[in-house]
Amino acid sequence: MKLLMAANWKMYKTLAEAQRTLQELSAAIPAVPADRECAIFAPFTALSACSEVLPRGFLLGGQNCYPQLEGAYTGEISVAMLKDCGCSFVLAGHSERRSIFGESDKLVGEKTAFALQNGLRVILCVGETLAEREDGQLQGVIERQLRIGLDGVESVQAEDISIAYEPVWAIGTGRVAGPEEILEAHTFVRACLIKRFPLIGAEIRILYGGSVKADNVKSIIGLDNVNGVLVGGASLHAESFSKIALA
Ligand code: PGA
Repeated sequence: MKLLMAANWKMYKTLAEAQRTLQELSAAIPAVPADRECAIFAPFTALSACSEVLPRGFLLGGQNCYPQLEGAYTGEISVAMLKDCGCSFVLAGHSERRSIFGESDKLVGEKTAFALQNGLRVILCVGETLAEREDGQLQGVIERQLRIGLDGVESVQAEDISIAYEPVWAIGTGRVAGPEEILEAHTFVRACLIKRFPLIGAEIRILYGGSVKADNVKSIIGLDNVNGVLVGGASLHAESFSKIALA
């Protein structure tokens, strides 16, 4: 299975900044190694411009979409619009969407199924808050987010869906989960995936996200059941993301 090294730019970068970062990444990464895929999740406004200067072999993704073909949904972005801008991927259920914008497990599941049915590959994000972890709910939260998040997904190719395990307490905090914590969660995600998809569950990628940096990525991707990373802060600069992508 190929690794997936993904950059989530969140609400950062104007057009000029986005294009400059991609040009710097192109210079640093003339070719993506054969054992991995690299994807950039840029803000909507920069997607089209990014598609023009995407480093060779990189893929482009949106950070969100709405699960309807089109319609009166002010402020939302459709799957067709993302594809039109050169996207092959979309994120679903990032913890910032869940906590700041109130996205429910059900809506995340609708987005996941709809985007897959309409030809985008999806990274479905799951993860517990610190309070949930301290309350012993790690497995309960992940199981529920996966069960409802994958509810409408019927037949799917393993390479079209990835799960990102992102403990909320490790996102943007500089506090990376330790190897035992990552192993425990990823082993549990793997078991849930095999239960849900007996034929392909072992082939679905599970990414880790939360304060991944150039100096910790190698040890993280060396762990069992870690098949890539979803990187926020350290993906904003070509210097650090190129080191991560090539780790
Ligand atoms: P971070 O963000 O790398 O800045 O912790 C990760 C994410 O939100 O996907």
